[in-house]
Amino acid sequence: MTINVSDADGRHRSPFRAFARRALALGGAGLVSVTGVVALSGSAQAAGTTLGAAAAGSGRYFGTAVAANHLGESGYATTLDTEFNAVTPENEMKWDAVEGTRNTFNFSNADSIVSHAQSKNMKVRGHTLVWHSQLPGWVSGLAATDLRTAMNNHITQVMTHYKGKIYAWDVVNEAFQDGSSGARRSSPFQDKLGDGFIEEAFKTARSVDPAAKLCYNDYNTDGVNAKSTAVYTMVKDFKARGVPIDCVGFQSHFNSNSPVPSDYQANLQRFADLGVDVQITELDIEGSGTAQATNYGNVVKACLAVTRCTGITVWGIPDKYSWRASGTPLLFDDNYGKKAAYTAVLTALGGTSGGGTTDPGTGGGGTDPGTGTKTCTATYTATQTWQGGFNGQVTVKAGSAAITAWSVKVTLGAGQTTTGVWNGTTAWDSTGKVMTVTPSYNGSLAAGASTSFGFTVQANGNTAAPTVSVCTAS
Ligand code: G3I
Repeated sequence: MTINVSDADGRHRSPFRAFARRALALGGAGLVSVTGVVALSGSAQAAGTTLGAAAAGSGRYFGTAVAANHLGESGYATTLDTEFNAVTPENEMKWDAVEGTRNTFNFSNADSIVSHAQSKNMKVRGHTLVWHSQLPGWVSGLAATDLRTAMNNHITQVMTHYKGKIYAWDVVNEAFQDGSSGARRSSPFQDKLGDGFIEEAFKTARSVDPAAKLCYNDYNTDGVNAKSTAVYTMVKDFKARGVPIDCVGFQSHFNSNSPVPSDYQANLQRFADLGVDVQITELDIEGSGTAQATNYGNVVKACLAVTRCTGITVWGIPDKYSWRASGTPLLFDDNYGKKAAYTAVLTALGGTSGGGTTDPGTGGGGTDPGTGTKTCTATYTATQTWQGGFNGQVTVKAGSAAITAWSVKVTLGAGQTTTGVWNGTTAWDSTGKVMTVTPSYNGSLAAGASTSFGFTVQANGNTAAPTVSVCTAS
């Protein structure tokens, strides 16, 4: 498995990239069999049956990053409008997008997101006013005095344009270094204005729109570590000295190299105890199936356990539009089907499925007329490969009716043998190539819910995906 490739900022990026490519190649040969697929469309708007409604049940919002250029895609807009009650423009409010040329402001793309959100009664998180990245060259070239003027002017113009329309602003983004130093990151602002640029930005922001919550937002600050402690120390100091700050955003970009920390909730709580709101601002978790779902559920539970955790934003809607699409880190597949991670989030929020799922991506056809027929689908994913073998995982998903048992047939390729099966009980046919897998403990699934089993394959030169077929439910 490939681990941790840094991006241009020397920052986190999909550790799964190479693996995902391999998995995709294998997955192409993996077969999904269907005995009936729920294809209920339409929007379940009743309380608690969508992410937004379920979150609202505890007074929180559930948001997503939105890109203006996707709003015209019907699946995108429908999913946004049905499931979410908050948005963050993914790129459209950044400095390079709104003030690429000094004092010439272009708000058109950001405006389209804000007006869409307003028409649907969604909160808007403003992202972001002062950040070292996506910063036009003219800003980096300014000398200190001029840079201070430009920074305060940028904050003033942008916040004035959106005054009264923004729930919370990421006033300063990613100002601290990774690692153990606890130091501020080198940037034009830091290098020319010193540590004081952060509080100056917050003071300016407060003076422009006193009603907006003012947040500091960062990544790799999700658990208790040197970087989060440096931010904690700054926030504590701001609160002690009356520097205006209302909230801290925890981006929460997770993958195998940067997993959900075990002290995630404790870290949120220690910030909340300083007297600020905490928000999960850019959540995405690379992976698939049950493992991904479990991680998502745990993040949501951590937020719900912290009174001042006021909302969660995921960093995009379908996997295909994620900034790290190959890691399939989001709640909806490329066809806007709800993934197991979606169900885990909805359940953790206290919501319930609205009586069906929209998951054209895993079925390949078939419509369950909603007669209560017990059905399931089985989807194969390669989860790990190495020279000589691989691990496979099959996600079993109940259709529109709850089931108490399932059975899936897996046929190995020529030369392949298995050396272990987990979360399933196997019966082999006389050829030793076809196993029928039934639940070991995980037979009962609510409508639309998923479980998975896995197995290790000795490839013996054949790395093709095993054929997964015939999911039957009772
Ligand atoms: O729009 C241009 C397009 O015209 C051009 O042809 C193309 C060629 O590269 O680039 C397009 O812009 C890209 C933009 O996303 C819109 O898709 C930029 O190259 C690309 O760098 C930019 O990436 C964004 C990234 O921030 C930049 O740092 C991601 O979409 C966005 O999800 C990501 O979001 C950040 C948060 O703001 C802060 N926290 C981390 C998070 C993930 O990196």
